[in-house]
Amino acid sequence: MSSQSLNARITVPQIRARKGGVPIVSLTCYHAHTAKLLDHHVDIMLVGDSLGMVMHGMETTLGVTVELMILHAQAVMRGSSRALVVVDMPFGSYEESPEIAFRNAARTMKETGCSAVKLEGGARMAPTIRYLTQRGIPVMAHIGMTPQMVQVMGGFKTQGRAAEEWPAIEADAKAIAEAGAFAVVLEAMAEPLAAKITKDIPIPTIGIGASPACDGQILVMEDMLGLNPTPPRFVRQYAQLGPDIEAAVKTYAADVRDRHFPGRENVYTMKAGSAGG
Ligand code: KIV
Repeated sequence: MSSQSLNARITVPQIRARKGGVPIVSLTCYHAHTAKLLDHHVDIMLVGDSLGMVMHGMETTLGVTVELMILHAQAVMRGSSRALVVVDMPFGSYEESPEIAFRNAARTMKETGCSAVKLEGGARMAPTIRYLTQRGIPVMAHIGMTPQMVQVMGGFKTQGRAAEEWPAIEADAKAIAEAGAFAVVLEAMAEPLAAKITKDIPIPTIGIGASPACDGQILVMEDMLGLNPTPPRFVRQYAQLGPDIEAAVKTYAADVRDRHFPGRENVYTMKAGSAGG
C-alpha cells in the first residue's frame, strides 16, 4: 500500500488533536471544481446531505440516498488531495441498526476513498458510533438542530434556547464523545450552550450557528458565497456570487442576441494555405 497518498491528506487523529487549538476550518463541498478551490484553505470538506436541497432542489434532506452521496463524494475526492473529506450518512441509511450503518458507511468509504462519515443524533446513536469506530470507520457526530429530524421537530428549530433543554443536549454531547466520535457538529444551538459543551467534552466541536468558542466552524459553501438568496441568520456572506452569476448570464444573453458573441478571438481560423468552402 502507498502510505504517501494517505499521508498527503489531513488525518482524523490530526483533527482530533486540534481540540482547544487553532480553529478547524470546514466547508461543505459537493463537486470536483470547488473541491480544488477549497482544498488548500480548509481542513475538512464535508460532503453534506444538504446537497439534496442545495444541488437538487429538494425541500428537505430526507430524499437523499447513499448512491447520491457516493456520486458527489467521488467528485470531491477527485478534486482534492489535502483536506480531510467527511461524507454524510443520509436519512434511512444508519438509524435501523449498527450493522446496517456499518454496511452503508463501509460502502461509502470503499467507493469514495473518503476518510470518515458523519451521522446525526446524540445518545440514541452512541451504540452505532461505537460499533463503527471499533470497526475502522471514523465518525463525526452531529447534534443540536439535526435536519433529518425536520418532520419530528416540525421545522428547522434552534435548540437549547430554553434552560430546561440543556441537560438532554449535554447528555447527547457526552454520549457521542464517550462512544468514540472524533468530532461533533453543533448546529443551530444557543451560543452559551455550545460554548459550555465545547468546554466540557474532550473532542473538537464544529459550530454552525453555534458559538465562536467552538473548536472549528463550518458553513454550507453556497450560503457563504451568496448563492442562496435566503440564507439562515448564522451565515456570513463572503461573496455575492448569485447576483454576479445573474449579471454575467444577462450580459452573455445580450451578447448572443446582438451577435457580439462569439468574437473573432472565440472562433477557429483555417490553417495557413488551406482554402475555406
Ligand atoms: O449537510 C450539511 O451540510 C451539514 C452541515 C450543515 C453541517 O450537515
